[in-house]
Amino acid sequence: MPSESREASRSLRSSVAQAFSEVFGSEPSGVWSAPGRVNLIGEHTDYNAGLCLPIALPHRTSAAARLRPNRRLRLHSLQSSESYDLELDDIRPGNPSGWGAYAAGVLWALEAAGHPAQGLDLMVDGHVPVGAGLSSSAALECAVAAAVSDLLGLALLSDDRARAALASVCVNAENTIAMAPTGGLDQAASLRCQEAHALLLDCRDGSVQHVPFDPSAHGLALLVMNTLAKHSLVDGQYEQRRASCEEAARQLGVLSLREVPVEGLDLTLDRLSDNRIRARARHVVTEIDRVRQTVTLLRAGRMSDVGSVFNTSHASMRDDFEISCAELDVAVEAATAHGALGARMTGGGFGGSAIALVPTRSTAEVTSAVIHAFADNGFGAPDIFAVTAGGSARRES
Ligand code: GLA
Repeated sequence: MPSESREASRSLRSSVAQAFSEVFGSEPSGVWSAPGRVNLIGEHTDYNAGLCLPIALPHRTSAAARLRPNRRLRLHSLQSSESYDLELDDIRPGNPSGWGAYAAGVLWALEAAGHPAQGLDLMVDGHVPVGAGLSSSAALECAVAAAVSDLLGLALLSDDRARAALASVCVNAENTIAMAPTGGLDQAASLRCQEAHALLLDCRDGSVQHVPFDPSAHGLALLVMNTLAKHSLVDGQYEQRRASCEEAARQLGVLSLREVPVEGLDLTLDRLSDNRIRARARHVVTEIDRVRQTVTLLRAGRMSDVGSVFNTSHASMRDDFEISCAELDVAVEAATAHGALGARMTGGGFGGSAIALVPTRSTAEVTSAVIHAFADNGFGAPDIFAVTAGGSARRES
């Protein structure tokens, strides 16, 4: 770990442990942390059994925890005045609500997977921006899951296979208790990424490959442009996209859109009942192909050429999948007009963040161009920062 992130990690660890001691009156058994993610490419492909390519962010959520000898759960957060005190047996879809659903949901989902759980005292400290499309929810789930797995002696962090099983537990927590019908990209990224690598995740069989990703070695930087426009995965739009994809697969007589080859796509799409479903399916099939193209370019050392694949991906999300918004489009257009090699929205869409691949020497110009474009359009100032590919969930102390 670079010394700067070691320093940051140490201060996260001590503040959350100290807060735990203050609230619960004695020390936690340990501190665990898990990262948010940026998906480089492969959007809305996970629930279509497709391919995605996330990196873990340097931004992490840490959790100080201690088991309780009963089934009582006490949850606190340094970011929220909302705290929870409930019994494990009271956890069910929609209860608790708010951030507690993601934490409590993990205990519920562990039990559903056949691992008897126990009550817990928990303090979390989240440093993944919330509502930014950077998976603050997955970071929270995976930090709690890492803690509980270790405390119960389940060893679900021990290797990639175990981590994949833990990721499924977190997905079930999010789908069932938080009732967000998401697809699994975020939890895989948080638990299975490696530092300085992107994670090529095949959602058909759950297999992964680690693809070297170090923009600085190519004179490049990856900028995250958080538009601060509201992003939510539980307001129905995400679910509608998912339903359209399932309908397209049904009409084509395939298990999932992953089975549809990109070759001859127009002819295949002609068999669909209407233009909207056609456009949704076109995005998914071409996006899976763009993940393959990106991986080929990265492996060939041609990172600069990934920029144009980002641009095509953004256009596909804007025009075919219709998950962009004015703020995301302005960020992408301003960045590419002022020196970015390519840019695209990332994550679920309808707000949140876009990413831009930028020559290091142009980062200041791109950043200021995006800030000015936001002001010109009457949008609030965006938050723009460079990121590197970080490591996955781990025990900190
Ligand atoms: C959200 C969901 C993921 C994935 C992305 C879009 O982040 O949580 O499962 O579907 O949107 O790629």
